[in-house]
Order: sequence, then C-alpha cells, then structure tokens
Amino acid sequence: MPSAPGRIGNDGERDLARELAGALADAGHGRGRDVADSVTHPVHTYPARMHPATARRLVEVVAGPTRAGALLVDPFCGSGTTLVEARFFGVRALGLDLSPLAVLIARAKTWTVSPTRRRALRETAHHLAGEALAAGKQARRSGQGPTTERRPVGFDPNARNRRLSGWFAPHVRRELEDLAARIDEVRSRDAELADVLTVGLSAILIKVSNRASDTDPTKMPRTIARGNVARLFARRIDLLCAGLDDLGARRGPQPEVVQSDARKLGDLVPAGGVAGIVTSPPYAGTYDYAEQQRLRFDFLGLHHREFHDGEIGARRGFAGGGARDAVARWRSDLAAVIDAMATALAPGGRAALVIGDSIAAGRAMWADDDVRASLDDRLALVAWAWQERPALGATEKRVFQDRGKREHILLLERSRGA
Ligand SMILES: C[S@@+](CC[C@H](N)C(=O)[O-])C[C@H]1O[C@@H](n2cnc3c(N)ncnc32)[C@H](O)[C@@H]1O
Repeated sequence: MPSAPGRIGNDGERDLARELAGALADAGHGRGRDVADSVTHPVHTYPARMHPATARRLVEVVAGPTRAGALLVDPFCGSGTTLVEARFFGVRALGLDLSPLAVLIARAKTWTVSPTRRRALRETAHHLAGEALAAGKQARRSGQGPTTERRPVGFDPNARNRRLSGWFAPHVRRELEDLAARIDEVRSRDAELADVLTVGLSAILIKVSNRASDTDPTKMPRTIARGNVARLFARRIDLLCAGLDDLGARRGPQPEVVQSDARKLGDLVPAGGVAGIVTSPPYAGTYDYAEQQRLRFDFLGLHHREFHDGEIGARRGFAGGGARDAVARWRSDLAAVIDAMATALAPGGRAALVIGDSIAAGRAMWADDDVRASLDDRLALVAWAWQERPALGATEKRVFQDRGKREHILLLERSRGA
C-alpha cells in the first residue's frame, strides 16, 4: 500500500469514518515511518503490504471494542502486518493466506517464544553464516568446485535448475545453496527454527539475485561480493531477533497462521466466532503473487500448486481473451470471501477492508463498488474513507477519468439480527 500523498476523504458514521481517514493519513506521516520501522515490520518485503501504521490504527478500531480473548482474523494476511499489530496490541489473532511463503513470513514475524529460544535463533544463524563463509573460502582455495544444488522434495531437479539459472551469479548461487543446505540440517532436529531461518534467507534472496525487484522480473545483474550472502543473512536474522525481542516485551498470545483459501474461513472458525477482521484482499488484476514468488518457491522448495490454482484476483487471470469471464470470476470470488466473513463474524463484529481501484483487462475496477455489490443484509457498510492516488500514464488517465483512482478503507458491521 503506497504512502504517496493524495487527498483523503471520508463518509458514514462520523467518528468511525474519521478513524479510517486517520488510518490512511498515518501512513504518510513521520509517525507512520516510525511504525513501519518498528518491531518485525522491516524484516521482509511483500508486494502491496498494508502500511503498518494503517494496520495499527485499524486493529485498534476493530479490536478495541471487543472483549478480552476475542479473536481477530486476517483472511489475506500476506506477510503478517496486521498479525504483528495484533500481537503488539495483545489480541488473539488468526491469519490465513494461500501462499506458502506468506505463511512462513507471517509466522516468523510473530514468533512468540522465550528469550532463550530467540537467542538460539540468533546464535544458530551466526553459526551457520560462519560455516558458510568458511566453506566459501575453502571452495575458492580449491578452485571453486561446481555448486552442489539441493534437491527439494517434489521438485524436478533439472526443471528447478533451469528456472533458477541466470538469476544468480555462480558464487552467489553456491553460497545460497550452502546456507539452505545447512538450514535443512537444522530442520531435521528443529523444524520450527528452520522455518524462521528460511525467512531470513528468503528476505535477502531478491537483493542478491539479478531480478530487479519482487514485482519487476527485469534481469538486472548485481555485483555481490563473495561472502556477502552469509553476512546479509546473519544481519537479517539480527533484525528479526531485535523485532521479536521488542514484541516479546509485550504481553499477548502468538497469532496462529494457516495456509488456507480465504473462502474456507468457515472450516477454521465456528459461525459467529470471530470478533473482528482487518484485511487487505488482492486488488483485481494488479499482482500475480504466485508468479512473483516463483523464484522463492523454486529456491526454497515451497510447494505452490494449490496457491497457483486458488489465488484470487491474479493478473494472469485477466490476460488474453477471457477478460469478461475474469471480471465475473473476480466478483464472485470477492462475494464468496465476503460471505465467509459475514458467517464468521459475531453479531456487531466489524471488518475493515483495505482495497484499491485497479485496471484489469484494460478497464477500471472500482473496488468500493465491487465490495458494496457483494454485501447482503448480514453486513452493513458503516463508514468508509479513501485517498486519491495519482493516475499515472495515459492508460490510467483514460480509464479512471473524472472519478479518479482511489485507495479505500471500508468498515463493515455484522448485523445483530440476520
Ligand atoms: C494485498 S496482499 C495482503 C498483504 C498483507 N496485508 C501484508 O501486509 O503483507 C493479498 C494476499 O492475498 C493472498 N491471496 C490471494 N488469493 C488468496 C486466497 N484465495 N486465499 C487466501 N489468500 C489469498 C496473496 O497471497 C496475498 O498475500
């Protein structure tokens, strides 16, 4: 979610609408930067991440009026921004995401363990990095033998190699594979610790690759000094540990994070069992998470078939001839998500949705219209706020015209009767 300046407006129940506008404004202030730099927020990049300051305000608005022990849910938790804030706030939380990478990141950023266990994380990371550095020196002395690639279970090694080749300088690939193999060894005795270490590796993967960014697949060769992979990895785990130490100083339970389709929320919680929801669903036709995370899936050995098939709103779905079908599918997917939320929410419970207008298949997708069209008498839109986003380029200007392009926060409330 960008923090670019743009006019902010609000409507609906006055005090709530002002809070929502404040949640948008917080992202653009110095205070917003402080929140974004705090606890575990800076550990891992993630496309269309909710601004942490927005998440902080929304968690307060939604969870504030609930009872102690009440459950807050984010059905599209991504990298876990709202879960980190729920943990910070001390409320019980559940996150769902269909991406196996998102689940790993969100769990690592909210890992709630004893100081001894956090120390073990730091020490293990430094130990592995030291071993990897020594192995790299040894490989150089002996004339740099060929990389011994790992063989993650369920991946065809040749196909994996083909997909990974070209994205890393040979010495970088060797150092990455070496560290990953050492993490695999940790996994055989402590899978939970290995998962958290894996997030440290994932966090630096694009930085040391030849890929321009998470969302831009342009090949852009980078010069990475020998040994830097291990150093960056250790530093990233230090950053995570510092954030976890700060979170650990606050009381509250560890959020639960489940790899699941948001439409199946009802399989995880009883009807009426959720006190509040704070979430940011995909924006129609804007990102292609399964494609963008593919390099990480291949390198880390994460299985992604289910995600590829079940991702909603993905840009690839709008490509080619079936645009009309894709728009209808998006609307029915969104309606299914909102139906699942209505069933899960307790009477009087609130759901804050952060969602932006987008272009899909060359046409404007008005996110607020699509959400409104999905509501039935169980959910009422009680307050909303928006921020104007600059329409960039000729296509955006033509498509969005006078109405403009906006980022929205929509606050829904579960009726007490229906
Ligand atoms: C806008 S992002 C959420 C970002 C998150 N708020 C954060 O701060 O990192 C939308 C998320 O929806 C997930 N997603 C897409 N289709 C899904 C589905 N059917 N069920 C659950 N998650 C899905 C994507 O993996 C992505 O993480």
